[in-house]
Amino acid sequence: MSERLSSRCSDLKRLCDTIAKAVASAIREMVGTAEGGLIVTMGADGTPTKSIDRAAEDAVLAQLRASGLGFKVLSEEIGEVLIGEKPDYFLHLDPLDGTFNAIKGIPFYSVSIYISKDDCHFGYVCDLASGSKYYAEAGRGAWFDPGLCLCVSKTSDLKDFSISAYTLRPHTARMVGIGDKVRRIRTLGSTSLEMVLVASGKLDAFVDLRGMLRVVDVAAGKLILEEAGGIITDAEARELHLDGNMWQRTDLIGSNRLRHNDLLQLIGGGSH
Ligand code: IPD
Ligand code: CA
Repeated sequence: MSERLSSRCSDLKRLCDTIAKAVASAIREMVGTAEGGLIVTMGADGTPTKSIDRAAEDAVLAQLRASGLGFKVLSEEIGEVLIGEKPDYFLHLDPLDGTFNAIKGIPFYSVSIYISKDDCHFGYVCDLASGSKYYAEAGRGAWFDPGLCLCVSKTSDLKDFSISAYTLRPHTARMVGIGDKVRRIRTLGSTSLEMVLVASGKLDAFVDLRGMLRVVDVAAGKLILEEAGGIITDAEARELHLDGNMWQRTDLIGSNRLRHNDLLQLIGGGSH
């Protein structure tokens, strides 16, 4: 299915493209440098803001201000910001997802943007190292540039599954069952990009049991994965309910649907 964004979301897509370009350019000199990793303050999410995070966030906010639209922004570093006189949209932002990778020069980091207003919901993730863009509009589908349809994989046998997973504490033991069954496990370091890899059918599932993910990390990736035919739950098979509260943390399993219950059972969670 070729792209069929509403005209409102086409405008939002153009704005997000401009934002992604501005972020890529703002952080370019800092990628792979120790300077990029200097801590400048404590972020609104309770983790340190590095100078590269600050540069990325400043670039996004500048583009939003220049857009002439009103936004209520919830961003990982600065927290809540109002742009314009009255907010037309609510925007969840992770200006740089994969800060460690960016600082080390590992080419896997992204900007993640989720924009909503009434029944309009738009998610956008840009891989800042390659420039690949993934986006979705609720009820209409998911695509990657240049307007090609995103669709989850058809892998149905766990022994063929390639997954991305956070296998570290505090739930290392719960991952063992999955590790015994699947073909490959990767840990790539940018949650939103790992979710869109599942949406693209390049990976079959994403599992993070650390209970650390925040709404800004997952809002865009969740919409893109669901619109591509996938499913996301927490580790107990519950639907994710992220109500815009930055302090709320979650674990997450996203998959192509076909063996979601088996994955849940392997980690000792409920059945969906
Ligand atoms: C990080 C990435 C990473 C995940 C960390 C997050 P950040 O985001 O999403 O994949 O393992 O928990 O903090 O901090 O680089 O935006
Ligand atoms: Ca971040």
